[in-house]
Parts: sequence; structure tokens; C-alpha cells
Amino acid sequence: MVTKVCLAGATGWAGSELARSIAKTSDVVLVAAVSRQNAGRSLGDVLDEPQLACPVYASVDEALAKPCDVFVEYTQPDSAKTHVLAALERGAHVVLGTSGLTEEDYAELDLLARKRQRGVLACGNFALTVVLLQKFAEAAARLIPQWEIIDYAHDDKIDAPSGTARELAARLSKVRPPEPTIPVDRTVGPREARGATLSGTQIHSVRLPGYVISAEVIFGMQDQKLTIRHDAGSSARPYVDGALLAIRKVSTLVGVHRGLDTVLDL
Ligand SMILES: NC(=O)c1ccc[n+]([C@@H]2O[C@H](COP(=O)([O-])OP(=O)(O)OC[C@H]3O[C@@H](n4cnc5c(N)ncnc54)[C@H](OP(=O)(O)O)[C@@H]3O)[C@@H](O)[C@H]2O)c1
Repeated sequence: MVTKVCLAGATGWAGSELARSIAKTSDVVLVAAVSRQNAGRSLGDVLDEPQLACPVYASVDEALAKPCDVFVEYTQPDSAKTHVLAALERGAHVVLGTSGLTEEDYAELDLLARKRQRGVLACGNFALTVVLLQKFAEAAARLIPQWEIIDYAHDDKIDAPSGTARELAARLSKVRPPEPTIPVDRTVGPREARGATLSGTQIHSVRLPGYVISAEVIFGMQDQKLTIRHDAGSSARPYVDGALLAIRKVSTLVGVHRGLDTVLDL
């Protein structure tokens, strides 16, 4: 069976790498792509990849006029939710790779996805090493009640905290709420020095040239600590296999599911 995909953000850093890999598969085919700056062209011409013949549209609404099974969102946080809602309205399942959506956004998407009986697989990070970081951190949180997250990224990443950090905090909150010795609102000095509180966890976001993407969670106990850290290299290759797996599996889901391990046997 061939899965027909509409890819928003097909000319971007992450989307173009995914599009090139889709060109090499036989069970996934791109039927439509979205990029405002390349509308009207063939994606194959834009990416210099002759095996990709699909047209590029200026908007998601135009692209979705072409029937697809799965809509992949890889654009930017400001537009992602609207795109996903439009795709669900058209009856597509959704793989959501764009980061920066809030818990409220996910709740809204979940409502529509369940109404339409469609799946949304949202992964702030498709890399296998991040999936493992999430699993190991959940195991640590069962035994260690105090932790904080540090999220490192390049200086021009506009959203903070990263999708990876948000997702990790949301997961850990389901294991247990962290129990800081001094509650953050009793901090003496600027409250911001303790970072942002998301899903009960303190997250510190560093945005500097020289970084690509890293995520670190530190668990602290009396006289001992555990650091679990993921570092990505500079190519978008680590995200491709996970995104392809998500495309192949999302139609088995209903509602919003967070994290690739939803469809992995870990
Ligand atoms: N889940 C993961 O594993 C993973 C991995 C890497 C990145 N990401 C996330 O994916 C998102 C994209 O990252 P990136 O580095 O690929 O960004 P990027 O290089 O800036 O690419 C963005 C793409 O989206 C298109 N786009 C932007 N705004 C749009 C809009 N309003 N409507 C339609 N198309 C739009 C751009 O084309 P035009 O400008 O021509 O429209 C371009 O093709 C970010 O949120 C990033 O954090 C997630």
C-alpha cells in the first residue's frame, strides 16, 4: 500500500531532507508540497531531485485540495496549528514535526482529531537518541524526585523552550511532579533566574552561535547526580527515519499522541 503525503515546509532544512528520502522509498509518495517562495514550481526542480515530481503550492489550503493520506507539518510554530487543523478538516492524518506548540494547542488539535477519527503524531524530535533520552529520563524520574532541563540551540532558533524540552517536561510530569527543595516562587532575586516552568519542570533555554540542538536533563539527589544528554550534529539526517516511521504508522492512531515511542516497540 502506498501512503500519499502532503509536506508543508518541503524546501526547509528538515523538510527537504525528508522529501529527498521519500523520493527513495516505494511505499510513501509525495503528492503535494508547500513553500510560499517556490509556489508554482516542481519540488524536484527546487531540490534538484528528479525523482520528486510533485507540485509546490503557496498555501496549505491549496496543497490539501490534492487528496493525501498524511499531512506532514514542518514549517514554523506560528503557522503549524492552523495547518494541522486544516489537514484534519480535510480528513488527513497528521505527522507534526514543527516545535513550539503549547499544551493548549495540542488540546485543541486533539479535540478535532478525535472528532474526525484521525491521528496526530507530534514529535518535537524524531531522532532515535532523543526517544531514548525520553525513556531513560522517565525511568530516572520514578526514583529521583528532583530534576531540571537545559535546552541548547543555535542563536536563530525563534522558539523557546525547544519542542524536545517541552515534550520531555510533559512526559516527566506524568511520572510525578518534581519536588524542588525551595519552590520557585520563593526565589530570592529575579524569578527568571530559575528558568521557565513548563509542566511543573524548570527549563533553561540557551540560544547561542556554536550550538546546533542539545537537550540535557539533570537529576539531583543528596551527594549524587545523573545527567542524560542528547547532542545533534548539523545535518537533518537524524530526523528522517523517525519521520518516515511516523508517516507509516500514524493512520493506526486516533487523537494527538506525543513522541515517537508511541509507535515504537521499546
Ligand atoms: N521534529 C523534529 O525532529 C524536528 C527536526 C528539525 C526541525 N524541527 C522543527 O521543524 C520546524 C521547521 O524547521 P526547519 O529548520 O526545517 O525550518 P526552515 O529551514 O526555516 O524551513 C521552513 C519551511 O517551511 C516553509 N514555511 C515557513 N512558513 C510557512 C508558512 N507560513 N506557510 C507555508 N510554508 C511555510 C518554508 O518555505 P517558505 O518560506 O518558502 O514558505 C520552508 O520550506 C521548526 O519548528 C523546527 O524546530 C523539528
